[in-house]
Amino acid sequence: MSKEFKRYLVTSALPYANGPVHIGHLAGVYIPSDIYTRYLRLRGRDVVSVCGSDEHGVPITIKARKEGVTPQEIVDRYHRIIKDSFERLGMSFDIYSRTSSPTHAVTASDFFRKLYDEGKFIEKSSMQYYDEEAGTFLADRYIVGTCPKCGNDRAYGDQCEKCGSTLSPEELVDPHSAVSGSVPVLRETKHWYLPLDQYETFLREWILDGHKEWKTNVYGQCKSWLDGGLQPRAVSRDLDWGIPVPVEGAEGKVLYVWFDAPIGYISATKDFTPDWEKYWKSEDTKMVHFIGKDNIVFHCIVFPSMLKAHGDYILPENVPSNEFLNLEGDKISTSRNWAVWLHEYLDEFPGKEDVLRYVLCANAPETKDNDFTWKDFQARNNNELVAVLGNFVNRALVLTQKYFGGIVPACGGLNDYDRETIAEVAAVKGSLEKNIENYHFREALKDAMNIARIGNKYLADTEPWKVVKSDPERVKTILYVALQITANTAVAIEPFMPFSARKILAMLAVDKFDWERLGATDLIPAGHRIGEPALLFEKIEDEVIQRQLDKLEATKAANRAAESVQQAEPQKDAVSFDDFQKMDIRVSTVLAAEKVAKTKKLLKLTVDTGIDRREIVSGIAEYFSPEELVGRQVLVLVNLEPRELKGILSRGMILMAEDADGRLRLLGPGEKTAAGAIVG
Ligand code: 2FM
Ligand code: ZN
Repeated sequence: MSKEFKRYLVTSALPYANGPVHIGHLAGVYIPSDIYTRYLRLRGRDVVSVCGSDEHGVPITIKARKEGVTPQEIVDRYHRIIKDSFERLGMSFDIYSRTSSPTHAVTASDFFRKLYDEGKFIEKSSMQYYDEEAGTFLADRYIVGTCPKCGNDRAYGDQCEKCGSTLSPEELVDPHSAVSGSVPVLRETKHWYLPLDQYETFLREWILDGHKEWKTNVYGQCKSWLDGGLQPRAVSRDLDWGIPVPVEGAEGKVLYVWFDAPIGYISATKDFTPDWEKYWKSEDTKMVHFIGKDNIVFHCIVFPSMLKAHGDYILPENVPSNEFLNLEGDKISTSRNWAVWLHEYLDEFPGKEDVLRYVLCANAPETKDNDFTWKDFQARNNNELVAVLGNFVNRALVLTQKYFGGIVPACGGLNDYDRETIAEVAAVKGSLEKNIENYHFREALKDAMNIARIGNKYLADTEPWKVVKSDPERVKTILYVALQITANTAVAIEPFMPFSARKILAMLAVDKFDWERLGATDLIPAGHRIGEPALLFEKIEDEVIQRQLDKLEATKAANRAAESVQQAEPQKDAVSFDDFQKMDIRVSTVLAAEKVAKTKKLLKLTVDTGIDRREIVSGIAEYFSPEELVGRQVLVLVNLEPRELKGILSRGMILMAEDADGRLRLLGPGEKTAAGAIVG
């Protein structure tokens, strides 16, 4: 028997306020948490859902430095964008707070102080990287180097984003400072550590024995952390952005962002209600953390150890975590702008909030990484939302208007098929509840949509538009049943698609129904006047999708260009103007070209340099055929010392550009110029 809880506390990972929210965040964390919360509210449960911006940490300060603004300006900007876009998507947090709030500073400081006073930390000095040029210690992402595991030369001091390994700065090969680029030195510094090793027994019992029901990916990660043996973790950093460590002699030190961020759940609850303690301090509360898979260790190992050390607070009952969502086959990446940004989606697809909610839930990476593609988005909208849900609701309402002037007809005698249909609808409730309560939101969405499918099939099978001629009484019953199914659909889809649920209820001209009424066949009484039908969803055309694909193509091109700039060879040593003047570069016309026998790479070109006709041997046979060169104008360094190659005297060099992949391109004068024109 699972335990009965009196209330629920739902937390959703606090997004970093260093960039907007994208579809990966939504599919992984926020859509599931909102479905769960809305469902609990519909069932009349006492639930508080908290979230907020995570406004500390090194990435924020790095971004500020890059833009030449203060970290506060960065977090203010993104906090506003994130909060606003969440609201527009219908996220129903009771509070969307921020970790720069005064309540949070006090809550996090007090938390630290209690553990400090009770001797729960270890104080330890160690050698850490210090940037002498910038005069600062280099925490986490301030230090960059080569990953010892995969060779990625842009790994950070805390993590390699390429292979996903968790790293410590000392492990990096060729470390350098992300602030000044200089090679850092090791310097002694003191920090406070939470001795996680002392919590191993508690964690093993609590998770490995007590929470076997957790999702396999979460349980598995916890097990492997625990089996690997836990180490003390530093909970402070040498940084000037964050919550100051509240003890004597800790100048210049702040709480590590992963120490303060989860405490943000507590401060947000405090800011929401003066009654916050009953949500945090009573065993009757079921706390559920919705997170992405990169947050598992912090929510299952570190934060619970902090809570345990503190002693006043409850532990989470579950930590549902999804895998990652990719975009068109590639990992979503903020730095490469490879994402569908929520605020941009909302601007570009007004009124289609539920379409995104639907697609991200239907395709959620619940058990493995999944891919979001615009084609799938279009197909799900057109084939599922328009063709099934929208079509059913529209038909039921339009036919009621047409045959009965919008007045719900009385239900006559039900036949077997009617009864079977009603029973099928009623059976959805149990499955839907079980799936949501077990965090199987994809299956739950299928259940909800199933009600519309049943309704669609019912109308297709009973064909009221045909029967109306021969048996108008029967049509009354058919439409009565169809309208009840429509109302049921509105109840069932509310957690997933709240905007559409509201629209259906408005078209039915009724208020909200309790969840418990799901499956009932008397939701809309006979004689009730329904409202005007309107389309719930509209077809998304190919051009709209193509625009999104073009946008992604443009991002790819921009990334390629940026990469080739990054990979460009460093500038060579300076040359004097006189030296440059010594080079005689002329526009020349290729008169003839042929392969040099017994070589793969060489072409023999005859060129008109304007001074003379001469032969030049050039290593470009892999890139150009002789035919395509004849007639082209190229640039030739004509006073390069002649050289014999394969028995041919080559007099000059054809100038070429070589890109990062080693591909060669001919350089020419841009527009037709007389051979012999001097370049310089
Ligand atoms: O991964 C992230 O985006 C973190 N900002 C999540 C923090 S969750 C919580 F602990 F606040
Ligand atoms: Zn790596």
